[in-house]
Amino acid sequence: MRDGDRDVLIQRTAEALVQTRRAVALTGAGVSIESGIPPFRGPGGLWETMDPMEVAHIDVFRRDPEKVWKLLIEGMQAVLSVARPNAGHTGLARLEQWGYLRSVITQNVDGLHQAAGSRDVIEFHGTFAWQRCQDCESRCATGKVDLSRIPPRCACGGIYRPDCVFFGEMIPPQHLARAQRLMARCDVLLVVGTSATVHPAAMIPLLAKDAGARVIEINPEPTPLTGRVSDYLIQGGAGAVLNDILGCVEELRGLGGHIDTPR
Ligand code: OAD
Repeated sequence: MRDGDRDVLIQRTAEALVQTRRAVALTGAGVSIESGIPPFRGPGGLWETMDPMEVAHIDVFRRDPEKVWKLLIEGMQAVLSVARPNAGHTGLARLEQWGYLRSVITQNVDGLHQAAGSRDVIEFHGTFAWQRCQDCESRCATGKVDLSRIPPRCACGGIYRPDCVFFGEMIPPQHLARAQRLMARCDVLLVVGTSATVHPAAMIPLLAKDAGARVIEINPEPTPLTGRVSDYLIQGGAGAVLNDILGCVEELRGLGGHIDTPR
C-alpha cells in the first residue's frame, strides 16, 4: 500500500463513520500491543513459546490449576496490571463519544477499552479483572484475591480462575447473542488488530458482511479476511491509523451539515 492509497482509505473510512453512525469495532490482541501486551500469534506471540492446548484449555485447568496459574495466568496478570490504554483504545472511545461508534466487541481480557473511556464493550472472551470460583461461582476482583498461595482459593475452598473463556469453553451466550444482533444492524465494522483465526469471533466479520456492512480492517498484516471478507485493509498499527481516522472525522465534523445527512 502506498502512502497516497493509505490517505484515500483513511478518508473513505472517516466518511463512512460519519455518514452511517452505526459502526461497530471488533478488536483483538493487536490493539493492545502498543500498550506493551504481547499478542498470541506472530513475532513475540505467547503461543510461540507455549502450546495453548497445554496452558489455556479448560481440561488442563481442571486437571492442574497450579500449572495454568504458574505458566500462564500469573505472567499475564503481571503484564496487564501495569498496561495503560494507547491511541488505538482512546481513538475508539472518542468515536463512541462523538456518536459514530455503537459498540466495541473485544476478544481481549485486558479492560483497556473501558479504561480508555469506551462504555459499550462486549468482552467476548471475558475478563482478567475478575476471578470466579470454580465451585460456588462467586466473583472477586482480581486485585483483592490473595495470591500468596497458588492457585488462589475462594472462602468456600474452591479454586479461583480468571473470569475469561478458556479453550474448550463456550462464549457466554449473552455476548454471542448481542454480537449477532449488532452485526445484523451495523453498517460499518472496523476489524482492528485481530488475526481472525479463532472462532466464533472470526465469524463476526462474516455476519456483518452478510448483512451488507462495509468491513474495514486495520492491521499491519493481511489476515484470512483480507481480499475475501473485508472491503479493504488499512495497513498499519492501530494507534497511528485510528489517530489519522480521528483527524479526518474531526475535519468532517467541522464541515457541519455533512455529518447529519440522513441515510
Ligand atoms: P493474535 O495474536 O492472533 O493476532 C494479533 C493481530 O494483531 C495480528 O493479526 C497482527 O498482525 C496484528 N497486529 C500486530 N501489531 C499490531 C498493531 N500495532 N496494531 C494493530 N494490529 C497489530 O490475536 P487475536 O486475533 O486477538 O483467545 O487472537 C484471538 C484469540 O486467540 C485471543 O482472544 C485468545 C487467543 O488464543 C483465547 O484465549 C480464547
